[in-house]
Parts: sequence; C-alpha cells; structure tokens
Amino acid sequence: MDVYEAVMSRRAVRGFTNQHVPREVLERVLSAAAWAPSGSNLQPWHVYVLTGGPLAELKKRARVRVAARDPWDEREYEMYPPTLKSPYRERRSAFGEQHYGSLGIAREDVEARQRAAAANWDCYGAPAALFCYIDRDMGLPQWADVGMYLQTVMLLLRAEGLHSCTQMAWSVYRKTVAEILSPPEELILFCGMSIGFEDVTVSDARAARAPLDETVTFVER
Ligand SMILES: Cc1cc2nc3c(=O)[nH]c(=O)nc-3n(C[C@H](O)[C@H](O)[C@H](O)COP(=O)(O)O)c2cc1C
Repeated sequence: MDVYEAVMSRRAVRGFTNQHVPREVLERVLSAAAWAPSGSNLQPWHVYVLTGGPLAELKKRARVRVAARDPWDEREYEMYPPTLKSPYRERRSAFGEQHYGSLGIAREDVEARQRAAAANWDCYGAPAALFCYIDRDMGLPQWADVGMYLQTVMLLLRAEGLHSCTQMAWSVYRKTVAEILSPPEELILFCGMSIGFEDVTVSDARAARAPLDETVTFVER
C-alpha cells in the first residue's frame, strides 16, 4: 500500500469485528512507528497495548461506570477550548450532524447520542487497543510529537489491513484505565486507540475536509 492510499483509506472506524489481531502484527507496527519524528528525538510517547482478558476487564469496568452514569474523572487536559470560535465551531457541528445523522439519530435526541457515544468505551467492538500517555512535564511541542507518532501508527495499521479509531473519550475514564494499566504517576493519559478489522456492516459517514484554500496559503511572490 502506498502512502497516499494509507492516508486516504485511514478514517476513524467505529465498528470492528472480533477477529483477533496477532501480537506480531502489533509489534511490527509499533516497532516501525517508533521511527516517527520528535523534537530532539525525545520520543515522548508511552504506549500500553491491551488485548484479551485485560481489555475485556477494562471494557466491563467502563460499562459499569457508563450504566451508573458515573461522573467523568477530573480532567488532566482540556479536550477543546471552552468556546470554539468559527470556523472550528461549524466544523464540529457538521461532524456531529453527519456522524449521528448516519446512525439515524436526530440532533435533539440526547439519550440516543449518549448511547452511541458509549460505544467508545467498548472500543467499538475492537479486540485490541492502545493507550497513549505523555509525561505531565511535557509541553505543546511534545504533544504534537505524540500526534505525529499516533498518525504513524494509524497509517502502518492500514498497511497491515487494519483500521483504528483514536479516542480522547478514554481520558474521561482515565482512572479506570489506570486501574488496569497501573501507569506511573507522572504520566497523563492522552487517548486510547481501538484497533482491529473493520465491521463493514456498520455505517458511518466519511468526515469531510475543508477546501484546501481554507487551511493552506501558498506564498509565491
Ligand atoms: C486526538 C483525537 C481524538 C479523537 N477522539 C475520538 C473519540 O473519543 N471518539 C471517536 O469516536 N472519535 C474520536 N476521534 C476521531 C475523530 O472524530 C475523527 O478523526 C475526525 O472526525 C475526522 O474523521 P476521520 O478520522 O474519519 O477522517 C479522535 C481523533 C483524534 C485525532
């Protein structure tokens, strides 16, 4: 698979089959992803891979919290600015409309939206997941490094015929994740990433992108 094909075929997949993801494939992907760039080669990512019993246990504990309508854990970072200005606000609401629309859920049906969002904590059915942490001392450039690393992982997963969904949603149940992983105190959970083979029977719209001239400026003379 060439790089363009990997980039264009990667998308946030929100329905996976239970087909096993071999450990050697994950090792191959994560070994190659380690070659992602980072400022001064800090490699500020800390990754835990979960499959089998431990992942099932995490999903079970998350399910209990969702059912109990447990409040989310206090935040260690803000997912978005408190007020999203234009054009980000419109892009977010277009995403919500499209995503929930493709599931047949109306804008005002908050219950159904919450039920759909709860699939996050089942990893959308995926049999494998990784959890990516960053040292709390790290600054914005290192968070960007982690983003580059995660995209590298996602593209390599495509080369293996796998799909993924990166999920900040896991950060709201970070204490439950920590019960299973026991990460050192100095680490912050940035996100989870569900990994597996796509369940093609699950429909979801392809998220659109802004036209090139909204996000890119060529300065030629
Ligand atoms: C850092 C990050 C966090 C995300 N968190 C979630 C999440 O919690 N749940 C989810 O379903 N998708 C999540 N996504 C997927 C985005 O919604 C998705 O990437 C975006 O809508 C663009 O769609 P595409 O990836 O399918 O092209 C996340 C993506 C990124 C990069």
